[in-house]
Amino acid sequence: MTIVDILKSNVTLLTSDKEIIAKNGTLTVFEQKNIFGSMINRVYLIGNVMCGTTRGFHAHRKLHQVIIVINGSITISVDDGSNKKDVTLDSQNKALLIGPNIWRTMTWNDNLASLLVLASEVYDEEDYIRDYEEFLSIVKNEDYSI
Ligand code: TYD
Repeated sequence: MTIVDILKSNVTLLTSDKEIIAKNGTLTVFEQKNIFGSMINRVYLIGNVMCGTTRGFHAHRKLHQVIIVINGSITISVDDGSNKKDVTLDSQNKALLIGPNIWRTMTWNDNLASLLVLASEVYDEEDYIRDYEEFLSIVKNEDYSI
């Protein structure tokens, strides 16, 4: 597995090099001890999204997520308040880890794509930062630890 930090250590792209390609399909594995943190407490999917749609527009205070795109292509734009990067997930051998205090949007590049998210915590609206100005003041003024 190749591990590349996209924005410091708060956004990391994993590219699997373990793909078991057979006549009955491709099995892709992402594995490394401790890379996914301790526990996954929530799994959710976003599908039935029209090409060109952008979702997200928020950051999280504490949540860690693993994002995988199934069937197609979605561009994830990440922003730590100082730097912005676009990462296009267009293959099942890519997974994006996003930690706290990262503003993100997700733009669907086709109609078929679904977003699979593994999340460290159960849903809590209080964990969301949905206002960009508030996000900027948090990342610029607070001494937060990852
Ligand atoms: P949201 O995270 O804002 O979606 P996106 O960032 O993709 O646009 O969630 C959309 C709505 O769904 C919002 O009202 C919160 C609700 N929701 C839950 O109730 N539970 C969950 O686990 C998630 C992810 C969202």
